[in-house]
Amino acid sequence: MENRDMNDRLFYFAGGDRGEWSVRQQLTKSGEPLASVGHVSVANALQTPYRAQWILHGVTSNERYVERKEKDQLVARQQGLGRTDSTYAALIPIRKNPQWWDTSQDERRSIFEEQSRHIATGMEYLPAIARKLYHCRDLEVRQPFDFLTWFEYAPESESRFDDMLAELRGSIEWRYIDREIDIRLQRSAA
Ligand code: HEM
Repeated sequence: MENRDMNDRLFYFAGGDRGEWSVRQQLTKSGEPLASVGHVSVANALQTPYRAQWILHGVTSNERYVERKEKDQLVARQQGLGRTDSTYAALIPIRKNPQWWDTSQDERRSIFEEQSRHIATGMEYLPAIARKLYHCRDLEVRQPFDFLTWFEYAPESESRFDDMLAELRGSIEWRYIDREIDIRLQRSAA
């Protein structure tokens, strides 16, 4: 892979005392906690991170599970990040257990969608919730999580966001998640 291509797709989330997002709440849902921080900044890899409390790296990648019909529906319904009324966000880093990574691709798809309805559930919350998924496993330096999930929405959509999380966390897929931190953010007044 070309370095330039990798750099365009590589992002980091730095937790510390500065950044464009201020932390409203930080909860450990499973596994080891992350140090509590007041702010999170999000940047592309080419910018140098400051000495934050923690820095999580992730890369945008190709899709693994989504099928053509689902993709068409997602594209028709979803909206991008950065909407002006989306002043709330959530950063939810997730690690899946070795059992998950030991299964085959078709078994994972079955757990993810046929058994857990991840896409069908998530789809009901579009376009209110905007999302972006970063992968961490293929980076050069071993990362503490497998995925960094990022969501943006208006404050009035937070209870719906919580409803969605309750549904997903009750699904079979979540039995394979052994570390999850739920960090709720608000865009800082610049
Ligand atoms: C806003 C509604 C949501 C929609 C429409 C949605 C949709 C999707 C889709 C289509 C994928 C598969 C991408 C692929 O094919 O590789 C995916 C993966 C994933 N989503 Fe969601 N999602 C939503 C909410 C969430 C939430 C709330 C979380 C976590 C708190 C989450 C965590 C993940 C993770 C960790 C993956 C990667 C799974 C893996 O590769 O093993 N999603 N999501």
